[in-house]
Amino acid sequence: MEIHIVEDADAGATVVADVFTRTVQEAGDPGAVLGLATGSSPIPAYAELIRRHREEGLSFAGSRAFLLDEYVGLTAGHEQSYHRFIRENFIEQVDIDDAAVVSPDGAAIDPIAEAASYDRRIAEAGGVDLQILGIGSNGHIAFNEPGSSLNSRTRVVGLSRSTIQDNSRYFDSAADVPVRALSQGLGTILEARRIVLTATSAGKAAAIAQLVEGAISSRWPATVLQLHPDVVVVVDEAAGAQLQLAEDYRYARRLEIENPLDVTQG
Ligand code: PGA
Repeated sequence: MEIHIVEDADAGATVVADVFTRTVQEAGDPGAVLGLATGSSPIPAYAELIRRHREEGLSFAGSRAFLLDEYVGLTAGHEQSYHRFIRENFIEQVDIDDAAVVSPDGAAIDPIAEAASYDRRIAEAGGVDLQILGIGSNGHIAFNEPGSSLNSRTRVVGLSRSTIQDNSRYFDSAADVPVRALSQGLGTILEARRIVLTATSAGKAAAIAQLVEGAISSRWPATVLQLHPDVVVVVDEAAGAQLQLAEDYRYARRLEIENPLDVTQG
């Protein structure tokens, strides 16, 4: 894992946007397959990508995208649906074709069949080149709550009490938060070729410490990312506050900046 401990959300957004920019620019025809996340964590990165699109000509033309998850029972047009969230916060402000942005259908008559077909649709697109992730205070990624199989696939899941509590801020009350979601599985997420996870605030500090330095366990589902070969973790000081080796990670990043790898030298 490549751990970046940065001053604030804006500095984190720059690091995450750099990973996106590299992925989009490296993708040949027909463009990158992006794995997009909702929630508050990726918003500064999306804002930075929108700025680069408007001011620096960064183009997402030809890119396709898959969302991580969707609430069961919410239609695409519901104001709290993730289908709508990603359009408002990213898609409508860059040049990705709306029809190329796919998410599980929360209003599907048969959500189990909908989940079962989702991984196939990702595979048919050639797999995800870059997946952006947030993390729950309980260590979940997407809606893979503690206890999730480390090899799980896209499926219908129940939300944990802490997730319902965390997400109730978007609804009138906790009772209005859907109790189920369609969520990519941990095994699905691990198939992305590159992953960038971003978190801010002290509420995420325990989950980040487990993700980076804890034992791999379904108690903290994000720990499964330790098995992935290309993960970048971007946290602010508060979210990184419980990392035992924080100074080592800072040292590693400084060394990289001071000694860039020159691949042109024989
Ligand atoms: P947040 O949610 O980005 O809104 O903090 C992250 C998550 O629960 O996965």
